[in-house]
Amino acid sequence: MFFAGLAGTLLLGWIVFPYLIFRSVDQPLQFSHKTHTGDNIGLKCVDCHTYDKDGRFIGIPATKVCRPCHSEPVGTSNEDTRLVTDYVNTGREIPWVVYSRQPENVYFSHATHVRLAGLKCQSCHFGHAYTSNLRPARFSRISGYSLDIFGRTLFNVPSTPSRGMSMDDCASCHRAKGVNESCIGCHK
Ligand code: HEC
Ligand code: HEC
Ligand code: HEC
Ligand code: HEC
Ligand code: HEC
Repeated sequence: MFFAGLAGTLLLGWIVFPYLIFRSVDQPLQFSHKTHTGDNIGLKCVDCHTYDKDGRFIGIPATKVCRPCHSEPVGTSNEDTRLVTDYVNTGREIPWVVYSRQPENVYFSHATHVRLAGLKCQSCHFGHAYTSNLRPARFSRISGYSLDIFGRTLFNVPSTPSRGMSMDDCASCHRAKGVNESCIGCHK
């Protein structure tokens, strides 16, 4: 009886509760990094993820970056046709969901980390750039924060393929590299 109760509580706390507090949001379109950066198409990260003339990181590319290759459907997939009819032809931007979105009070700059410190994308985003499917993004119903910016949870439940942009992750690299660790360095 006691163990059944204990097991029930653990199940509720570690598995059911996390599933209830995180809502799942599907991406508007299935995009494959693997296809686009693979041998056939062979694009580089900087072909799509660029900086503007002020040196600010643009982030996810605009639809106009896709247009040269996607003015007509090129593949046989439904997604490819939707890209042309819903976005390229209408000029609408694709409402991508950002997995690593930080809270409003955190300051983060790609220019500092990539250009100045010379870090690789993978040191923070892990294998995202090698995926062929986009998993749903998950956001806390309470804080609105993405699951990807949380630290490792107990027993790694629920598990996500990429994790590593929590405050502890940022701070541990900063500590290792001797970067200023004051609160206002990262917080606005
Ligand atoms: C054909 C253009 C294209 C190329 C080339 C490309 N990306 Fe992307 N990238 C996208 C699009 C579109 C998204 C938004 C959909 C998604 O999340 O995958 C994205 C999203 C991302 C994200 C997700 C950020 C987040 O947290 O939501 C990361 C990280 C990323 N790209 C890294 C890379 C890296 C590293 C490379 C090179 C190995 C690369 N990309 C090459 C178009 C591209
Ligand atoms: C250099 C040309 C090029 C660019 C730029 C490009 N694509 Fe593609 N894309 C292709 C080709 C070629 C295919 C067909 C690949 C295949 O079927 O093997 C494709 C396939 C796709 C598909 C179908 C997925 C699938 O697995 O069949 C989607 C969706 C897609 N691209 C989205 C995008 C988006 C979004 C952008 C802009 C951020 C983009 N592409 C930029 C060449 C490009
Ligand atoms: C030091 C860690 C780190 C490195 C290195 C890094 N990123 Fe990011 N990336 C982040 C964080 C944190 C965010 C969320 C930023 C925010 O919410 O303001 C992000 C967001 C993004 C996004 C979402 C776009 C947006 O709207 O902000 C893309 C795309 C992306 N990164 C691609 C890349 C690519 C490509 C590289 C390599 C050239 C890279 N990142 C290197 C930490 C990193
Ligand atoms: C893999 C290592 C690494 C990770 C992870 C990392 N950083 Fe950094 N960060 C650096 C380095 C190295 C510098 C110093 C760059 C320079 O000035 O050359 C830096 C600089 C900064 C600065 C400027 C600091 C100053 O006082 O000038 C801010 C702000 C910052 N990082 C925020 C963040 C945030 C927020 C995160 C987590 C989302 C993060 N960093 C994750 C390595 C990292
Ligand atoms: C290296 C960058 C960095 C430094 C230094 C840093 N933080 Fe953070 N902090 C973050 C990031 C990134 C988040 C969001 C991700 C998370 O919640 O783990 C965060 C989240 C928080 C939160 C939760 C905020 C919320 O909206 O829920 C608090 C509170 C906080 N930090 C306080 C502090 C204090 C106090 C200090 C100084 C002792 C500090 N931070 C130093 C990067 C940093």
